[in-house]
Amino acid sequence: VKRIGVLTSGGDAPGMNAAIRAIARKVIFDGNEIYGIRNGYKGLAEGEIKQLSINDVSDTLSKGGTMLYTARYPEFKEKAGQEKAIAQLERFGIDSLIVIGGDGSYHGAEALSKAGFPTVGIPGTIDNDIPGTDFTIGFDTACNTALDAVDKLRDTATSHMRTFIVEVMGRDAGDIALWTGLGSGAEQIIVPEAEFDMDKIVSEIDTGRDRGKKHTIIILAEGVMRGAEFEEKLNARGDYHARVTVLGHVQRGGSPSARDRVLASVFGYTAVELLNQGKSGVCVGIQGKDIVYNELTDVLAGGSNHQSYMSLYDINKEISY
Ligand code: F6P
Repeated sequence: VKRIGVLTSGGDAPGMNAAIRAIARKVIFDGNEIYGIRNGYKGLAEGEIKQLSINDVSDTLSKGGTMLYTARYPEFKEKAGQEKAIAQLERFGIDSLIVIGGDGSYHGAEALSKAGFPTVGIPGTIDNDIPGTDFTIGFDTACNTALDAVDKLRDTATSHMRTFIVEVMGRDAGDIALWTGLGSGAEQIIVPEAEFDMDKIVSEIDTGRDRGKKHTIIILAEGVMRGAEFEEKLNARGDYHARVTVLGHVQRGGSPSARDRVLASVFGYTAVELLNQGKSGVCVGIQGKDIVYNELTDVLAGGSNHQSYMSLYDINKEISY
């Protein structure tokens, strides 16, 4: 009987529970044992480890957050943190590990696999900023949450003829802004992947106003600047009745969308299969319709080369103005 551990690390993302459930169910189906590790790498180093039963993951599929809790734990970059973790894994007789998280979590997974401990990664982050996969768990739900908010903001923007600057998450990546922007018909999308020109933005708002447009929605990725800073720059050019809404952590919660549930279930299942095949130091992904896996080292080396969907940016320029 093999013992497989699972943890979630870094920022949570809707669908993480669906992945944990799929992993637990598949491992038990295979006749093996599954161990849940609480609070990410911190809990791993401190031995917060418990065997999960079939029932422990019941009724979790539709819930946001992570039933295993999560933590950011920079100490795991150090050898000492990694050694503590391996000692705990050995203490519980665990022979392989699945890590669900973003790039920080992948660094930890890579370190463990390099230290000889079989580890597989699953991309779980709302930012969608992991190379080697078209989508990460939580991204779709976060976009739907942001879209819902922007639809509401448009109502009040129109009533008052206001300009709304909506700051969305995504740390260094513009994916949430791009998808939310195109999906909501926002007049402007500001992302780290493209330069923006305030003069051009202002003249486009003016053209819209002259045409009788009653609202302007600007979706701003947090990686560019804060909403308040953008507002200041806009106000310096004229009175656009600007208001700022920072969507913040609301984007991280909520029941996962159909797409995230399915993605998480398939990723969870595939991660267990990869461990069954003796793989380590790899991470799951989706490319087109194909479920793929990549070397963690390659994915991390391409860290800043995450390909955003910049075609959406170009399309939006021609249809939302
Ligand atoms: O990586 C996910 C994310 O939500 C980013 O979009 C955001 O910049 C960051 O986490 C916020 O981190 P925290 O939850 O630690 O404040």
